[in-house]
Amino acid sequence: MNPQINDEPLAMPSRRLGPDQLVVSAIGLGCMGMTWGYGKADRTESIATIHRALDLGVTLFDTADIYGPFLNEELVGEALAGHREGVILATKCGLQVPDASVFHEDASKFSLTRNGSPEHILKSCDESLRRLRTDYIDLYQLHRVDPQVPIEETVGAFASLVKAGKVRHIGLSECTLDELSRAHQVHPIATVQSELSLWTRDALLEILPFCQGHGIGFLPFAPLGRGFLTGQFHQTSNFKKEDFRSLLPRFQPEALKANVLIVDAVKDLAERKEATPAQIALAWLLALGENVVPIPGASKRNHLEENLGGVLVQLTKEEQASLNELPSPTGGRY
Ligand SMILES: NC(=O)c1ccc[n+]([C@@H]2O[C@H](COP(=O)([O-])OP(=O)(O)OC[C@H]3O[C@@H](n4cnc5c(N)ncnc54)[C@H](OP(=O)(O)O)[C@@H]3O)[C@@H](O)[C@H]2O)c1
Repeated sequence: MNPQINDEPLAMPSRRLGPDQLVVSAIGLGCMGMTWGYGKADRTESIATIHRALDLGVTLFDTADIYGPFLNEELVGEALAGHREGVILATKCGLQVPDASVFHEDASKFSLTRNGSPEHILKSCDESLRRLRTDYIDLYQLHRVDPQVPIEETVGAFASLVKAGKVRHIGLSECTLDELSRAHQVHPIATVQSELSLWTRDALLEILPFCQGHGIGFLPFAPLGRGFLTGQFHQTSNFKKEDFRSLLPRFQPEALKANVLIVDAVKDLAERKEATPAQIALAWLLALGENVVPIPGASKRNHLEENLGGVLVQLTKEEQASLNELPSPTGGRY
């Protein structure tokens, strides 16, 4: 048995993010994999997954202009057309890709550049609004800080979008503590989105405590370790060349051999709790604090449903402690 979300209206808990207390479902939906990153996803099933998420009380949907590129925002815009009310739409800008077409065949030919110039931010916002079929973005996030542009200037552009009514809240992604605190002085920052999961815990050291101390929300991305923590991979798993994981050190054969041991421990606990490894991974994140809202990616309804069951899993202090002691993974993130 695993905690199931059924067709009864789920009492999906909500959480409040940032100084303006943006209310969102305790688990959001990461939409990236619907067009980008992990090989080809089925478009119809992806849209059905977004609709199922709405039915089950998910209100937070995360996308970015670069996913696809641009196709992801178009897909999310299409799926959410007619459902805009009550939805918290989160997107991102600040990354560019010179030639998008190569990515879909071979992830190794792919490169991203950063652009945090005010001109780029303002232009990107208008383009995202069009693709998302809306006239406001609830949470507009800087995908990566551009070292060539002072963060104050970049966030100043975001602040002007808030003034213009095009954006409601501002977020950052993968920023340093210094960048976050400087940005927060220019305009209140609602959220930080960075990688955080049972096998990527760096944010626990400084960024998450800073967010907790300053009333800033935290959105762990890749909360399932890019699928790894669901227990679906083995030490011999292979990834196709269009799958970004084929390039990541942690997913290389030698690293996988060591890393499956981490998941074995998560699987053991899941079995004892009558839950699934994905639900344990999400429950661990939810237990980190009320300002934490994981955004697991799923392009299939069964994955989504399983993941939302994470809100039903309560971990004891001892269980949390045992998860905190899991060994660090072999291989870097990128
Ligand atoms: N800010 C950033 O720089 C950044 C970077 C990466 C991601 N993100 C955001 O964070 C979101 C989540 O991260 P992510 O998608 O990279 O990684 P993730 O959530 O850790 O894992 C997603 C992968 O796990 C699979 N999966 C999900 N639930 C599953 C289940 N219950 N059983 C088996 N497999 C399952 C998905 O497969 P299916 O698709 O087949 O369901 C997908 O391949 C993204 O969608 C994106 O919105 C942000």
